[in-house]
Amino acid sequence: MIDKALMNTYGDRSATLVKGEGCWLWDSAGKRYLDGLSGIAVCGLGHSHDSISAAIAEQASKLSHCSNFFDIPGQRELAEELCMVSGMDKVFFGNSGAEANEAAIKIARLYGHNRNIKTPTVIVMDNAFHGRTLATLSASGSRKVQAGFEPLVSGFVRAPFNDTDALKKIAENNPNICAVLVEPIQGEGGIIMPAKDYLYNLRKICNQNDWLLMLDEVQTGNARTGKYFCYQHAKILPDVVTTSKGLGNGIPIGACLAGQHAAEILQPGNHGSTFGGNPLCCAGALAVLKVIREEDLMLRAGRVGKLIIQKLKHELSDVEHVLDIRGLGCMVGIQLDRPCKSLFSQALESGLIINITADCVVRLLPPLIMTDEQTDILISILSPLIKKFDRD
Ligand SMILES: Cc1ncc(COP(=O)(O)O)c(C=O)c1O
Repeated sequence: MIDKALMNTYGDRSATLVKGEGCWLWDSAGKRYLDGLSGIAVCGLGHSHDSISAAIAEQASKLSHCSNFFDIPGQRELAEELCMVSGMDKVFFGNSGAEANEAAIKIARLYGHNRNIKTPTVIVMDNAFHGRTLATLSASGSRKVQAGFEPLVSGFVRAPFNDTDALKKIAENNPNICAVLVEPIQGEGGIIMPAKDYLYNLRKICNQNDWLLMLDEVQTGNARTGKYFCYQHAKILPDVVTTSKGLGNGIPIGACLAGQHAAEILQPGNHGSTFGGNPLCCAGALAVLKVIREEDLMLRAGRVGKLIIQKLKHELSDVEHVLDIRGLGCMVGIQLDRPCKSLFSQALESGLIINITADCVVRLLPPLIMTDEQTDILISILSPLIKKFDRD
């Protein structure tokens, strides 16, 4: 259905979802769906989690918003908690992933100017996705996202993902580079996993060249891959980390975290946001962090992902058109050999919510709280559809 009063940015939207509980969603006709997408990596704790609903309701009854002219205790507390789980030193709050990345790009530019680089330039990757604002779509590596919005924002050079030699070449030829912005796993790009030592090598190159290492953990963060942040698998520390999505479990919040050489770069007057870090969003996000800790959801995310990948590999091992099944934690991609958009509506029809990205990849981003039994239900719906798709 295309609405008369809404700009048609999302195309035709088939179901009207009206209720959610745990890993289940219901539409307006009462039909139930298993959620294999978490609202695109947002509702990691599932829907209508009691602790989150209670924290939001309680804060809303006291104070939702007051502006950043005033001290906000929950904002300070949330920043401290995020620093503790990340190893970073300071946090700026915005409202979305794109805004978190905008803050990172501004930090990189100031960092460059502070080092007398006249045109500070950030290395970004082929196939990357960093958002839909002008700077973040310019940083993204997808023509689809950029087309029609030229002139693009300058100050980016592009490199192939997962190729550190290419970065070494750029270092030799471009004295204007001040930072690298990269997703630890490319989500929108098709769950593209780099080599295990990629982040470690990136850290080394950044150190050698005095570049900031800036990781976009908007999708991979907040326990989704089995650690609080994905870079923690690689045992490195970036200079800047951006996150959003799962941080609020549905409350719109984004955060740009900075440590080492980057934490003190933004100073009064450099950046701001009316809503960023308001009492309501911070209360919701603080509750999310508490639940992740108390329910041991990093561990759970790792197990859910492993189970799903194991079962998919078992079911689909001899399906010719399945080229690869990959992922980490609750980020799973099934690479098919041709566009598979129709699988979205077929899955929906069968009571399962999935996503198709990069044309040929079935992307699963289930809630971190998914039970073993629910992973069985997910596989029992999805595998036959993929097998049948193979035969179509
Ligand atoms: C890695 C990454 N960065 C940035 C964004 C943009 O986030 P938002 O849509 O909240 O602006 C996304 C959204 O999918 C993302 O996956």
